[in-house]
Amino acid sequence: MSPDELRIWLNHFEHHAQHPRSVPSGLADVLTPEERRLIARSIATFQLGEQSEGVTLLQAAERFARRRQLSSLVQILQLFVREEQRHAALLREFMEDHGMALKRRDWTDGVFRRLRRLAGLELYLYVLITAEFIGILYYRALEAATDCQRLKVLCRTLVCDELAHVGFESQVLLELRAARAPAVRALLRLGHRAFLIATAGVVWLTHRAVLRRAGYGARSFLRACLAQYAFHLEPAPAALPSASVP
Ligand SMILES: [Fe+2]
Ligand SMILES: [Fe+2]
Repeated sequence: MSPDELRIWLNHFEHHAQHPRSVPSGLADVLTPEERRLIARSIATFQLGEQSEGVTLLQAAERFARRRQLSSLVQILQLFVREEQRHAALLREFMEDHGMALKRRDWTDGVFRRLRRLAGLELYLYVLITAEFIGILYYRALEAATDCQRLKVLCRTLVCDELAHVGFESQVLLELRAARAPAVRALLRLGHRAFLIATAGVVWLTHRAVLRRAGYGARSFLRACLAQYAFHLEPAPAALPSASVP
């Protein structure tokens, strides 16, 4: 990615660090006991997933940025980590106000964290963007599953940020992929789609009550996940970046 493109993303993340999206106070904040039962465990898993110090990501980014002289990449990812921590805080506030228990660990969250530690920045971003795809669909489903105005606006707020995250991550991944040999590109595509399908299956099994309430079946949820993949990581050939990663 060129320094100019990185500058645009740095401006974006700096702007949102100075003016974080927030949920206005005074919104109706009523959750029925049935809604609370439906979402409590599920929302706790996503709240846990939003929490990260970003140590592995920032170490990988520093190595990557040093090799390619892209120092602003590290600044962008530092601000990105802070934005995700803010998501965790917004969800935690909501959960605490509604007497929902926080989770300290969850096996799906543990698998994602272990995978992200395995290799360099590129693999980390593949795992991360998979979680972002799922997060966007989940928060939209949660918004549809509740009548609580505060939770609806909270979900929309998170989705706005996650869409920007996916925009940034997919741009980096597409540039890295464009610099690869065709056979490696094909393998990366196969591997990532398989990982996304497996993740979507686990998320369906563990969060299906919320997803069903929003109108998803297992197949339509998987289709929605793959549509996200296609939209962000398989753009029309004219939109593909040239291999400009230095
Ligand atoms: Fe997030
Ligand atoms: Fe995100």
